[in-house]
Amino acid sequence: MKKEDKLFPDEIARGLGTRRIGRQILSYEEINSTNDAVFRLGEQGMAEGLCVFAEHQKKGRGRMGRSWASPKGKGVLVSILLRPLMPPLEISKVTLMAAVSVVRAIRRVSGLTLGIKWPNDVLGRDKKVCGILTEMSAELDRVNFVVIGIGVNVNADPKDLPSGATSLKALAGKKIPRVKFTQALLRELDKDYKRLIEGDFAELAEEWESHSVTSGRRVIARTFGRKIEGLATGIDEDGALWIRRDDGLQEKVLAGDVEHLRS
Ligand code: BTN
Repeated sequence: MKKEDKLFPDEIARGLGTRRIGRQILSYEEINSTNDAVFRLGEQGMAEGLCVFAEHQKKGRGRMGRSWASPKGKGVLVSILLRPLMPPLEISKVTLMAAVSVVRAIRRVSGLTLGIKWPNDVLGRDKKVCGILTEMSAELDRVNFVVIGIGVNVNADPKDLPSGATSLKALAGKKIPRVKFTQALLRELDKDYKRLIEGDFAELAEEWESHSVTSGRRVIARTFGRKIEGLATGIDEDGALWIRRDDGLQEKVLAGDVEHLRS
């Protein structure tokens, strides 16, 4: 691999121009999980905007206790520390925001317009390109910090990825420069995070909806041990997904996972 395509902090920071995201950047060749590393640094009081990258994770973690596998040096694996002054119940907005930032960064660098499966899987041709794992340290009424972990399959060969996954390279038919993509991602996150903390979630929700491949589909949602089946009608101002069950009842799902069913 050419030196300039490695995710070194100085390469990423050069000309970045963000206000918050990427104020401090650390890169590891190998780590267990960037989310775990940032969580520890959050507990130690590190300022928001810190980004930790890794070329390879030995214990990459996904949502709902799953793992996240990515071949070495082919993806962008990053965790970002945020300290938003928001109540814990609103943190799902941060997750949706991150998916919107990822989709926009992908479009800027590759020209691809991808879809979002609720809450935050980024899909191309129905296959997963990016996953986002948001974790937080909070008390009942106060968030100490949030860690957004983003894994993007950039230049991997789909045969080296878990089934159901693909990469930007496979979709665009060309290799994508990882440093350039990373800078675009941090810039979009910087803009969107500013909008979010200034109370502008409605605009982000609208953009999320315009990319949604879940709204209008029949789904099964799994949330806190319950299964809800019906038609996904879209997200609301809290970022919750609404599902209209066949008996006409509307259900609001704030956290969990959805499976798209054949319509
Ligand atoms: C999912 O779709 O289940 C979420 C996957 C999140 C993966 C990223 S890779 C960087 C960060 N570190 C982790 O251990 N997980 C997240």
